[in-house]
Amino acid sequence: MDVVVRPVRAGEAAALRAVRLRALADAPEAFGETLEHSRARGPASYEELVADAVAGRAFVGVAELAGELVGMTGVRRHDPGKFGHRAMVWGVWVAPEARGVGVAGALLDQAVAWSRVAGVGTLELTVVVDNLAALRLYRRAGFVVYGTDPDAMRQGDRSVAEHLMQLRLDAADVEVRPAQAGEGGARQVG
Ligand SMILES: CC(C)(COP(=O)(O)OP(=O)(O)OC[C@H]1O[C@@H](n2cnc3c(N)ncnc32)[C@H](O)[C@@H]1OP(=O)(O)O)[C@@H](O)C(=O)NCCC(=O)NCCS
Repeated sequence: MDVVVRPVRAGEAAALRAVRLRALADAPEAFGETLEHSRARGPASYEELVADAVAGRAFVGVAELAGELVGMTGVRRHDPGKFGHRAMVWGVWVAPEARGVGVAGALLDQAVAWSRVAGVGTLELTVVVDNLAALRLYRRAGFVVYGTDPDAMRQGDRSVAEHLMQLRLDAADVEVRPAQAGEGGARQVG
């Protein structure tokens, strides 16, 4: 299979929107955004997303097979300031016809490589706890589970639990200071 994994290009907003809508239709249980919500966002937000990616303010990677986009993934940075070292991986999806040959792994590698160059300190993502394929993919890329949100999403009356995962990219460069009283963290007494 001849799948090419690469950053999105200018002029691909409509194709990106189509692949995102296909992802949400194909695997609604895997994503927080609903198909209806994504449709309602319309083409303009994809133009903005592609412009951000082309300008290097965000990352969007796509997988292309025979001229069609068959996969995607994104990295979105938090606003500058105290959360400026963090970025979120989102929208990881590969079309069923392109699965099982390492496409998601290659998309994730590019997302991590972009993040390193962009100076991201911590990459984060969330994954529904029973999505074993995605969990295995992320673990292979070095992400670790640092918590579990038992009520991350609601599907009707049902709670959907998600693992919170992160990959520390600059762990060796920072001093991790224990939380002090008044900072809301746990404090060891005695
Ligand atoms: C999860 C998903 C992105 C994997 O895409 P893919 O291109 O098939 O993944 P890769 O071929 O790069 O595989 C990467 C790793 O994931 C594992 N993996 C992929 N599909 C798997 C499956 N069905 N069951 C178990 N592990 C699986 C692979 O085994 C591989 O690890 P390994 O080499 O150690 O075996 C794809 O199945 C998908 O799009 N699913 C629906 C959307 C989704 O769940 N997205 C994640 C949202 S958090």
